[in-house]
Amino acid sequence: MKNNKITGALCLLALAVPAFVPPVWGQGADWALYGGAGGRRFSSLAQITRANVGTLAEAWRFDMAEAGDPQTHPLAIGGVVYAYTPGLDTIALDGGSGKLLWRFHSGVKAGGPQRGLAMWGKGRDKRLFAAAGNYLYALDPSSGKPLPGFGTGGRIDLREGLGRDPDKVSLALTAPGAIWRDMIIMGFRTAESAPAAPGDIRAFDVRTGKLRWSFHTIPHPGEPGYESWPPDYWKSGGGANAWPGMVLDEKRGLVFAPTGSAVSDFYGADRGGDNRYANSLLALDANTGKLLWHFQGVHHDVADRDFPSPPVLLTLLRDGKAVNAVAQATKQGYLFVLDRVTGKPLFSVTEVQVAQSDLETLSPTQPVPSLPAPYARQHLSEDLLTNRTPQAHAWAVEQFRSFANDGPFPHMRLGQQTLAFPGFDGGAEWGGQASANGILYLNSNDVAWTGGLADSVAVHGLGARLYQDNCAACHGPDRKGAPPAFPSLLDSKLIDGQMADVIRSGRGRMPAFNLAGENMMALLNYVRSGEDKEMAAAPATAASPAYRFTGYRKFLDPDGYPAVAPPWGTLSAIDLSSGTYLWRIPLGEYPALADKSTGSENYGGPILTAGGVLFIAATLYDKKIRAFDPRNGTLLWQAQLPYAGNATPITYIAKGRQYVLIQADNARDKKSPQGAAYVAFALPNR
Ligand code: HEC
Repeated sequence: MKNNKITGALCLLALAVPAFVPPVWGQGADWALYGGAGGRRFSSLAQITRANVGTLAEAWRFDMAEAGDPQTHPLAIGGVVYAYTPGLDTIALDGGSGKLLWRFHSGVKAGGPQRGLAMWGKGRDKRLFAAAGNYLYALDPSSGKPLPGFGTGGRIDLREGLGRDPDKVSLALTAPGAIWRDMIIMGFRTAESAPAAPGDIRAFDVRTGKLRWSFHTIPHPGEPGYESWPPDYWKSGGGANAWPGMVLDEKRGLVFAPTGSAVSDFYGADRGGDNRYANSLLALDANTGKLLWHFQGVHHDVADRDFPSPPVLLTLLRDGKAVNAVAQATKQGYLFVLDRVTGKPLFSVTEVQVAQSDLETLSPTQPVPSLPAPYARQHLSEDLLTNRTPQAHAWAVEQFRSFANDGPFPHMRLGQQTLAFPGFDGGAEWGGQASANGILYLNSNDVAWTGGLADSVAVHGLGARLYQDNCAACHGPDRKGAPPAFPSLLDSKLIDGQMADVIRSGRGRMPAFNLAGENMMALLNYVRSGEDKEMAAAPATAASPAYRFTGYRKFLDPDGYPAVAPPWGTLSAIDLSSGTYLWRIPLGEYPALADKSTGSENYGGPILTAGGVLFIAATLYDKKIRAFDPRNGTLLWQAQLPYAGNATPITYIAKGRQYVLIQADNARDKKSPQGAAYVAFALPNR
């Protein structure tokens, strides 16, 4: 196929052909669309094959000498790569050499990821849509200059038009928009606690930036779903936002949008009800924004169980017939496979009873699919705790016993940590999945986290309060003690575990204290620093809920490894016609445990090529990119990256040669040297 911006669109039309022909459709020479056509992350390129991938070598590297975490899945069109720097400048690179062609510095101060871009073209009019924080820019792809006719000076502010004071809402464009005809359909990321923007999904005119339609994910009065919230929540509440990115079914004119939880994430007494359309997959008419169907994955979520990945449009077989399906991955390890037109589950979904909270009314049940089986473990028990060393195991057992454990639908408690397993980062994540021939290739995390709630109105943080209540009498309000009878705690040589032992067991004149879990951690932290590590307790206002989250905590052993037994990260191939696994392997290594095939946490997704190769980096600690045989999960090739490839690769042609490109950085591994780069691989020149 030619280098053509609408190759992706043409290829989607190819979906009309019967399924299970060899996957010849794809994106041609380009990677023209975020996540590829139908979100399948599939390329029809076949220069690099199973047979020759073993000789793949680094072709060029664009090192940005800058720390950050853009998580970018670039575009490559006509041999030009469009991407972001860690400082979130938009850049264009020569796809064959990595040479910088232009750089657009918006001047907007923005943190957080920008995962991709979107290209629109009609005749000579071409527009590259790039994000900078809450701004969407229309750039001239040949120069990187903003196109003045779009919005104001080439940009629109996504904070406007949400019915809130734009200066009081914080939002960021993490995923690029979906291009439909002459519109760009946008979601965004917003704050996880109040005040947050309502997650309206909006279509803007690609030429002018004017609003064309808006869908309220928190319905307004008179709109269906309004009754699933308290009457006035839509005015002040936020979230239910489509942050992972949307996928178009161009043949049907449908846009599929996955949404996240409502705010605040972990305590929802002020948003009683099922909270439609939070945690939902929405099928919207791309022309009008009208809702065709919805599927809610978590009712009244209180565990940050956003739908974390863009959905994948695929064709599977049912009773010998091709069925157009959409697959939605989750943080909790379920894959929902739905009929694309009706939204009806293609594997039955049962509402199962879930644990209830003392603090608020939760949904009595939550949806669980019969197939495929979960791709991450669901229930943590003592026999699933780490056995890396006997000490680590004993430590983990003790911690585990102090946690509340609700299974896959946890709710948080006051003064006690609750397990989230899989953790708050899944299960699946934002990297998405790859697919061809009705098979889905999915990488997953498989570690436990914990979280808890604390009183919002407490004057002190938890650690300070515990200290003042229990310890100050002897060790003084300033921790200086009264030596020699009462030792100062400021210069204690004890490590945390030993200090916890002293506190729990008592010593000399010091009594024992029955403290564990979150309380112990907060107290130890306060004893060390004289400060509460958690955010200072905000004074309560009418808008702030009674309880606040005490922080995302990974359940790690004292040496920093996950305190659950491996695998800590996996890669699976799942046949969605039958709902069964073709294969499943650990993904990633901890260098010190490399012989143990533990897998590791991974962020960023796979891609698949007609050459019969699956490429994935994603792993946190080994900093490798790998090629697997999609038929059986055999490792075909791997290469060391300068930083962790926490992004989804792309593949494209430049000057006749096929490249595989990955963005890498160490933002999620603070112990390693910080920096970021784009690294391209190709077959050696013959
Ligand atoms: C009734 C007085 C008393 C109270 C209350 C008390 N301690 Fe102590 N603490 C002591 C004394 C006395 C020692 C020294 C014991 C010994 O080694 O003989 C000590 C020792 C310690 C040590 C060991 C210091 C080192 O470096 O070896 C730590 C840590 C400690 N206390 C922390 C705490 C904390 C935290 C609390 C509150 C939860 C607390 N203590 C409450 C009297 C007290």
